[in-house]
Amino acid sequence: MPSKMTHQTNMVEKRLNSLQCELKDYEQVMQLMNENMKKGLKEQPDISADLKMYITYVRSLPNGSEVGKFLALDLGGTNLRVLLLELIDGQVLLKSSIYSIAENTMIGPGKELFSHIAACIQQFVEREGLENEDLPMGFTFSFPCKQFGLKKSHLVNWTKGFKCDGVEGEDIVTLLHNAIAEQKLLVRCVAVINDTVGAMVACAHLDQDCQIGIILGTGTNACYMENTTKIEKWREDNTIRQHGEGVIINTEWGAFGNNGCLDFITTEYDKAVDQMSKNPGEQIYEKMISGMYLGEVARQVLVKLIQDGILFKGHLSNRLRTPMAFYTKYLSEIESEEEHELDNLKQVLDELHVMEYSLTDCVIVRRVCEAVSTRAAYLAAAGVAALLERVEKSFVTIAVDGSLYRYHPTFHSKMTDMIGQLLPHRKFRLKLSNDGSGIGAALVAAISTQMTIATLA
Ligand code: BGC
Repeated sequence: MPSKMTHQTNMVEKRLNSLQCELKDYEQVMQLMNENMKKGLKEQPDISADLKMYITYVRSLPNGSEVGKFLALDLGGTNLRVLLLELIDGQVLLKSSIYSIAENTMIGPGKELFSHIAACIQQFVEREGLENEDLPMGFTFSFPCKQFGLKKSHLVNWTKGFKCDGVEGEDIVTLLHNAIAEQKLLVRCVAVINDTVGAMVACAHLDQDCQIGIILGTGTNACYMENTTKIEKWREDNTIRQHGEGVIINTEWGAFGNNGCLDFITTEYDKAVDQMSKNPGEQIYEKMISGMYLGEVARQVLVKLIQDGILFKGHLSNRLRTPMAFYTKYLSEIESEEEHELDNLKQVLDELHVMEYSLTDCVIVRRVCEAVSTRAAYLAAAGVAALLERVEKSFVTIAVDGSLYRYHPTFHSKMTDMIGQLLPHRKFRLKLSNDGSGIGAALVAAISTQMTIATLA
């Protein structure tokens, strides 16, 4: 007769089975990612290519010689950050303020969103006494954008819970400048970048081996330095191509899997998360990896186990029944403590209004969190491995930013481990790019204004 505990463990493992992919699955993800990247770079990109591989127009990386005072704006999650950066001798002095974006602003008219942004800039410049300074500004706008130049960037579609009317298909800089003009501010936006580009550029400022930038936060995405000779859709100056120069490509890998190519590993939990999201059928890879969704994937598993009668004696609290109530930070908190220490776990169960639970229940909850976060780290690793194969350098630093990577205790080591298994011959390191979004925007603004000055001179 199997003991009750063994029966429970078996049932849990059965429920988690679909989340536990094998090495060959990750190899396939890496290969599919590679194929999709190639399709996205074609002269006539295949409409079914999930990876849009947007050209960012960022062609040079900083070398530490950038100087000057810049503003930066960082919008990508639930907060807006305004920064003032002073670049002196390879050093960055930074002051910043965080402003929240109300839930109804995230889904309201676009005009209101941009007026709110302009009002925040105004508050910031007043606080810093910069009203009369004509400062160049870099804007980190972390959504899929088709760029037509450094300061011409059209939003393709919203992600991460944003859904403001009248912005998709529009030029972000024009919308921002209109709102800034209404506030009669002197600020002018000289560059729009994605947060991955910010992370990469900020890291490259001090590390010349940095060729890839990754975000693992509310959403996920990657960019890398591509050789223009490999970009079939390159329609800009051909001499750049003849010289084999590079340009940063924003892969927008969050959309990987939208065409169904990841169906072989998606689970019933992923499908449920997708269905209840604001963008069903979109950002499939992102929904298996990033902070906005991982907690919800875990909640879906926990609810199933409760319904099976295996967890919490089959009692489902109202809080745990609520979509998105199991935050991704719970995964980090629970997995941060040793298995025998249950302080964080108990705190989480308390917040979820779970009144009665056994030690076995605690073990199961932790096991579910680990299965969900391990798959996420391995999937992200498969993406990075595909990029390392494209970059083809003997050693590459990968700049990584985002709350998931920063706060999860084993994300870094699991990613490193899986990349090593997928590409035993490659040398790389994953490096936290602190404050990448803001610093990167200011650096790109610096490079672009210095380039303009150089061209005018
Ligand atoms: C967006 C990307 C962004 C990523 C990380 C995704 O949802 O589409 O542009 O880089 O989130 O913030």
